[in-house]
Amino acid sequence: TTRTVAVLVGSLRKDSFSRQVAEALAAVSPQSVKFRFVEIGDLPFYNQDDEATPPAQWVRFREQIRSADALLFVTPEYNRSVPAVLKNAIDVGSRPYGHSVFNGKPGAVISVTPGGLGAFGANHHLRQSLVFLNVPTLQSEAYISNAGALFDEQGQLVNEDTRGFLTKYARDFADWIEVIVGARAPEFV
Ligand code: FNR
Repeated sequence: TTRTVAVLVGSLRKDSFSRQVAEALAAVSPQSVKFRFVEIGDLPFYNQDDEATPPAQWVRFREQIRSADALLFVTPEYNRSVPAVLKNAIDVGSRPYGHSVFNGKPGAVISVTPGGLGAFGANHHLRQSLVFLNVPTLQSEAYISNAGALFDEQGQLVNEDTRGFLTKYARDFADWIEVIVGARAPEFV
């Protein structure tokens, strides 16, 4: 069975290392998993007043998440936390109350930094939100440090250790998706 994964990248930068990591992971993932990168940079800031007539971008984003089987978050760390653009996307998808498009979808979190601490703060702040949103998240940790040294000028992964790590991580995520989605009682499918 093919499973689709909505990919949310927490950086809008053209040459984002986070995006490069996400693309590198998609390239080594089992064929049964299809990755769809979801635009988050155009989402108006969440404002509850706008729910009466939600902006078209919110409607599109919510539909893209709703139609996916699983969620992959690949994010940098901003000031030891989640970049505002990604937090906004999470807030948009989580509402109206009781209609969160994230509910029950299996997820995975990869944090990325050119620094040395793996963007740990962003990774765990994000996980805090995912616990609340009932996104069963792959326990395996993925902290990608020194990202500036892992890619060539064209944004291609050149570090074989990282490729090996991402290959195993992608396999674990594919298995995790089956654990959560494959085992679900029929009325939830
Ligand atoms: C950063 N950066 C950063 N890095 C880090 O490891 N921990 C941090 O807390 C921060 N804080 C931070 C705040 C802001 C506002 C910016 C713009 C940057 C550096 C960050 O990791 C670096 O710019 C990455 O290249 C951003 O990820 P992308 O865009 O390459 O995916």
